[in-house]
Amino acid sequence: MLGIETSCDETGVGIVRGRTLLADAVASSVESHARFGGVVPEVASRAHLEAMVPTVHRACEQAGVALAEIDAVAVTAGPGLAGALLVGVAAAKAYALALDVPLYGVNHLAAHVCVDELEHGPLPEPCVALLVSGGHSSLLLVPDVAGDIRPLGQTLDDAAGEAFDKVARLLGLPFPGGPQIDRIARAGSGTAIAFPRGLTGSRDAPYDFSFSGLKTAVARWVEARQRVGEPVPVADVAASFQEAVTDVLTAKAVRACHEHGVDHLLIGGGVAANSRLRALAEQRCAAAGITLRAPRPGLCTDNGAMVAALGSRLVASGATPSTLDIPADSAMPVERVLA
Ligand code: KG4
Ligand code: ZN
Repeated sequence: MLGIETSCDETGVGIVRGRTLLADAVASSVESHARFGGVVPEVASRAHLEAMVPTVHRACEQAGVALAEIDAVAVTAGPGLAGALLVGVAAAKAYALALDVPLYGVNHLAAHVCVDELEHGPLPEPCVALLVSGGHSSLLLVPDVAGDIRPLGQTLDDAAGEAFDKVARLLGLPFPGGPQIDRIARAGSGTAIAFPRGLTGSRDAPYDFSFSGLKTAVARWVEARQRVGEPVPVADVAASFQEAVTDVLTAKAVRACHEHGVDHLLIGGGVAANSRLRALAEQRCAAAGITLRAPRPGLCTDNGAMVAALGSRLVASGATPSTLDIPADSAMPVERVLA
């Protein structure tokens, strides 16, 4: 199974055989976006166009398979940036048509969940999945990753990764900010500053998230220091901000497991590469008798292997392939696993 991912700024091409990962080639355009402080959709689309064919060839080389040996093609059909998705969907259709193999247009979020099968074997279902990245923050109940995914909650404003990127920017750190904050926070204290925990009141939606108030609180705190000419303790601000985000994410995820009688939590998406999120999730899951499944950081960020993993799972479950006229659907609902 060849998997193609182009929903944001990573051109990902993965190849799997069943649940065995054979190749995971990624070309990122992240450096082209750095000076803008965020992903520029048109720049990302153009980069996908340039990277697509070379990345497919690199994946085939890594896997030691010829294109002619590919049995099926899976591609992220949505959600994501419309123009970026279009490049991957068009390429996948062309490969499927040229190789005369079935096409599976899959949901990006379901792929983030399914990727863990490549590393840790069959998903324990039902499980709860916490997906946190630059584009999404979702809590999902997953009875069947190939056909039954139910949204429990999501962010009402910024995605978790977006909050990391914006806070990093106001601290003068380069884009993407998540890994920078993760690194700098190690030298700071997570309890130095009591930043607010959004949507954690007893009347708030239990599984929704909000990070824009937190981002504003960090900005105000930093401005107040600068106004009186005091140095900003960047490591403490980073660590305390990171603590506020990861505290809310893990608390809500564990609560979702409890309330749905589920004993496995899966985390995924770029922010799931965060060392504090992984440590806190591990600690809280252990205390609650929940088993945590977290793919290695390289499989948490966007990649083609996750798309191939879901395609492979769909074949195993006997799903009907997509037709060659499927659209790139930038707003594909999470409940729809296959286009
Ligand atoms: O899943 P991903 O590669 O692409 C999207 O679908 O958005 O996630 C990228 C996001 C960025 O916001 C980035 O800052 C964040 O994931 N990220 C992190 C870490 N590594 C990546 N956030 C916090 N800590 C990290 N170590
Ligand atoms: Zn993603």
